[in-house]
Amino acid sequence: MRPVILRYETKAELYPDLIHRLQGEIENLRTGSRNPVLALPTGNTMVPLYGLVTQKAEQLKVSTWKCFQLDEYYPLKQGSETKSFRAYLEHHFFSKVEAPPTLMESPDGFASDPEAECERYEKKIAAEGGIDLALLGIGTNGHIAFNEPGSPFDSKTRVIDLHPETLASNFKNGAPIPKAMTIGIGTLLQAKKIWVVALSKTKAKAVQNAIEERMNANVPASALQLHPNVTWFLDSEAASLL
Ligand code: GLP
Repeated sequence: MRPVILRYETKAELYPDLIHRLQGEIENLRTGSRNPVLALPTGNTMVPLYGLVTQKAEQLKVSTWKCFQLDEYYPLKQGSETKSFRAYLEHHFFSKVEAPPTLMESPDGFASDPEAECERYEKKIAAEGGIDLALLGIGTNGHIAFNEPGSPFDSKTRVIDLHPETLASNFKNGAPIPKAMTIGIGTLLQAKKIWVVALSKTKAKAVQNAIEERMNANVPASALQLHPNVTWFLDSEAASLL
């Protein structure tokens, strides 16, 4: 299915428009009695976005949001929790708003039974009625959340071994954490809407493969071709091979 592709000359133009659209989306989602359920990413791409979210928390009705973190490193140990995605979201988002989201769920990277934790997470998403809007970044190898190449398109929340390319790019300093818990591709495809943000030349190939190549498990983001409501937010460099 054809996605909507939004191109911006620079990221300075992309983020304000994304926030504007997010505000509209939240208003639409709140017309019923239900609170909006969002899946939230981490990564450098999203730092300026959370900066704007915290500035506009009131207009965006952040206190009504139910948030599911997309993924988490595993195993976390005492001392390594500062590398955790939960810490990222606390730092860039949750701790910076006066009235935080009504739900802030993360996969527990300290869990002693990670499979049971993944099952709990999947059930919790279902119990909230599923994801309304999944915000995603994309890895240079085409991963979405931490669904690395080879991930089945019907996968659910699970533990995954991180790809060497991911470890090299995410752990430039210090010992890498080898695994992660991630929302599955199948879980993501059940979201009502999916927005993907990609910036810079380093993402151009992954973006092209995801959008223009035949769907295949080596490019996890190509699974998004199965979804009827995907929007890509791209700067000119990330869109340069389309
Ligand atoms: C991470 C996350 C993804 C993220 C991607 C891109 O490690 N698991 O959810 O979208 O890699 O990150 P960045 O925005 O830093 O390029």
